[in-house]
Amino acid sequence: MQNQDDNLLKFDIPEIIFGRGSLSKIGQCAARLGGEKVLVVTDPGIIKAGWIDKCLKSLNEEQLKYIVYDNVVTNPRDFQVDQGVKLYLKKDCDVIIAVGGGSSIDTAKGIAILATNHGTVHEYVGCNLVNHPIPPLICVPTTAGTGADISQFAVFLDIKDKMKMCILSRAIMPDISLIDPELLTTLSTEMIAATGMDALTHAIEAYVSSLSWPMTDPHAIHSIELVAEHLVNASKTKDIDALEGMSIASLEAGMAFSNAILGAVHALAHPLGGLYDLHHGLVNSVLLPAVLDQNLSHAMPKFVHIAKAMGLELRGMSFEEAGLYAPEKVKKLIEDLELPTRLSKLGADIKDIPTMAEMAQDDICMQTNPCSYSNKELEAFYKEVW
Ligand SMILES: [Fe+2]
Repeated sequence: MQNQDDNLLKFDIPEIIFGRGSLSKIGQCAARLGGEKVLVVTDPGIIKAGWIDKCLKSLNEEQLKYIVYDNVVTNPRDFQVDQGVKLYLKKDCDVIIAVGGGSSIDTAKGIAILATNHGTVHEYVGCNLVNHPIPPLICVPTTAGTGADISQFAVFLDIKDKMKMCILSRAIMPDISLIDPELLTTLSTEMIAATGMDALTHAIEAYVSSLSWPMTDPHAIHSIELVAEHLVNASKTKDIDALEGMSIASLEAGMAFSNAILGAVHALAHPLGGLYDLHHGLVNSVLLPAVLDQNLSHAMPKFVHIAKAMGLELRGMSFEEAGLYAPEKVKKLIEDLELPTRLSKLGADIKDIPTMAEMAQDDICMQTNPCSYSNKELEAFYKEVW
């Protein structure tokens, strides 16, 4: 008999504050959540770009005390979360602000989990294993792609086993996502392109996910439209209107995937991040076309909508022709962005393919792909883009 809970759907997002210059309101946000002493989680690049000075100025204006934890790197490590939570507890902090890309935000989520639930992040890997509410958490994304500021996901690198650990829990949803498109102006061209492809992957995987529903679909499809319209321009010219368009694309993709979950691209990408410390957005970009080609026949009507969102004029086309356009348009976008298209170029080792396929099969994101794949089929994806 089917469990009644299997029919239930949900849609959960943080409070969203959006706009150019909104970073100057971060102090008000922290004060409003009852904070008196803030742990600011960030990385050295964001400090160098000057964004933390702006953040601290706003905290000073609200007479808030603060301490900065900046030992964050790409693919955040489990031990960095341990360092951060020790600082949070030792300094009697009562609110956390993350300013950065997905790595800073995920580190902040890990710190928040351990501050009230204790133990190590390993104990919370899986679905809804975080039982106690976390401290107030405000996220300020400095990339347009990860959606970590909107999502109930956090991903960490287990440094001992070289594995990505995925925590999915409604308890880790941030209280506030403060999105200031001006923060994207200090990103490199390649980083805008790679994180933008992460956003596109979120939107497409959420749209064809087995858990997608009418609350997630409009956000996913609008995100795809915005990426098609703005990503190349945002990456090549850093035009502020295009960057703002990508901020909304990332936001809506986050709203969609946090509630509809993801698919095979993310399942296949996580082992590459774990074993080789590769950039998440770049890896997704390499894998996305191959997975789309195979997912196509399992979600054809949705691929027709994706093709339309990416600019296809449907009149006079057969259903199949229209659907096929979506993967082709994604390939053209990657070409225009001048991103790598082979995993071997990123430094992966071909002998690890069977291990990576096993890890991908066990990844939580595999469960919501529109179809399942055998381990051999997952190996074939890696080989196709090697
Ligand atoms: Fe992602």
